[in-house]
Amino acid sequence: MKRISFIAALLTLFATADWQFVPRSDIAPPRLHITILASKNVESGYLFMAPFAGYPDTAFEQHGPRQAGPYIFRDDRELIWLDYSYYSICATNFQAARWKGRDVLFSFEGDHKPNYGYGHGHTTICDEDQQWIVNAIFQELDIETGKLLFEWESLGWVWPDEAVTPLNPGQAGSGHNSSDAWDYFHINSVDKNVEGDYLISARDACSVHKISGTDGSIIWRLDGMQKLLLHTPPPPNASFCFQHHARFQPHLSPSSDVEVVSLYDNAAHGTENGRGSEIHTAPTSSGKILALNTTSWTASFIQGFNPRLAQTYGPLTEYDSLGNVLFHTYFDSGFLGLGVQNYPGFRREGETMVYVSCNGDTETRVWRFYAVTGWVGARRFLGEVERKGFEMRLEVTGKGVRNVVAEAVLPGKSGKKDDRLVVQNDGQKQLIEL
Ligand SMILES: *[C@@H]1O[C@H](CO)[C@@H](O)[C@H](O)[C@H]1NC(C)=O
Ligand SMILES: *[C@@H]1O[C@H](CO)[C@@H](O)[C@H](O)[C@H]1NC(C)=O
Ligand SMILES: *[C@@H]1O[C@H](CO)[C@@H](O)[C@H](O)[C@H]1NC(C)=O
Repeated sequence: MKRISFIAALLTLFATADWQFVPRSDIAPPRLHITILASKNVESGYLFMAPFAGYPDTAFEQHGPRQAGPYIFRDDRELIWLDYSYYSICATNFQAARWKGRDVLFSFEGDHKPNYGYGHGHTTICDEDQQWIVNAIFQELDIETGKLLFEWESLGWVWPDEAVTPLNPGQAGSGHNSSDAWDYFHINSVDKNVEGDYLISARDACSVHKISGTDGSIIWRLDGMQKLLLHTPPPPNASFCFQHHARFQPHLSPSSDVEVVSLYDNAAHGTENGRGSEIHTAPTSSGKILALNTTSWTASFIQGFNPRLAQTYGPLTEYDSLGNVLFHTYFDSGFLGLGVQNYPGFRREGETMVYVSCNGDTETRVWRFYAVTGWVGARRFLGEVERKGFEMRLEVTGKGVRNVVAEAVLPGKSGKKDDRLVVQNDGQKQLIEL
């Protein structure tokens, strides 16, 4: 007796929760609670249903099935199929049909406002060849207002056959579902030139595209693996693959028919989940400066920056324009830091803020600032600001500004040294009257 009551209690517990399966612990379909068993006269076929939450979730209350979406059940409530992740966000009107001689499933999918009962989206037809692909998008936004200034999407312009990474689990996605969509293009850098055109790096297509800022068309493509477009094969060093950080370098261009770009030729693609195989197109990664002749449509190698070969994690190397290494560092946290990555690294010139304030001053017209460049008092003009209040400041960019002298310029006596203050540049406002 005791044993029976224990089992009954256990079953009740399960019936109130979403369904659970042992080998597929990732799925939790809602259960059907059948109150009138299917009679012999019901039509044949399965039940196509798509439950969704009737109320919006709040921080304290969650509604609806945990895994909303299309389901196919049998009359005895056994699960046949679930869509979880084939359709996104919210699916309704889930049905089976025949289309072009094939059996297909279709469903509305989109967004849904539970309180009002409306939404927006589209109907998606799903057959056994259904595949997911990542549409790579970049946008330019006005930071102040959030206004969208420009948007470009890869699928509008680039066919998936330009991909280098195969549709294959572990490389760039299997395409079987939305969370494992095939990342055929993979934009990983965007630059903009003064003409308003963009340069994007498409890592998984091993190519760099110049995009028109006017209409989004592709002005040219530098094809790292020489798959297309280039008429004569470039020298081996001008090839690249799985690159990052493509940048316009117009100041390096020898003439108007040559466009110069720099990039980081990663030359390797890892495996995302340990099951795919790594791809290497060069023994090491390197920095490259490449020229594209837009008359002959040939690419050439201008300069390369080879890495420090020591096995290091998260390295940063600085070169001079001849390729000599000036500085190299990496992250070293022993066992805690194995495999640490850093992408990318920059050196940025420090900015120093110098402040001046002169108690009781009502006369100074302009404050001039000078860097003290020698210990006998040599100085270099840094800039000046009009006195508008008690404390004025000047942002100074550049190396080696350690001691600063401020000079007050009085009205009508322009240039006359009237008062001098030394202000230290360590962020602390410090006033020393001389
Ligand atoms: C998506 O597909 C991949 C590869 O087939 C699989 O490993 C993963 O479990 C799937 N994800 C979901 C949520 O079904
Ligand atoms: C670019 O190619 C054209 C056509 O081959 C050639 O005449 C021109 O000299 C090249 N430009 C440079 C800077 O090499
Ligand atoms: C360019 O190629 C030469 C051999 O032709 C090689 O020695 C050099 O390391 C290469 N440089 C880069 C950056 O790949």
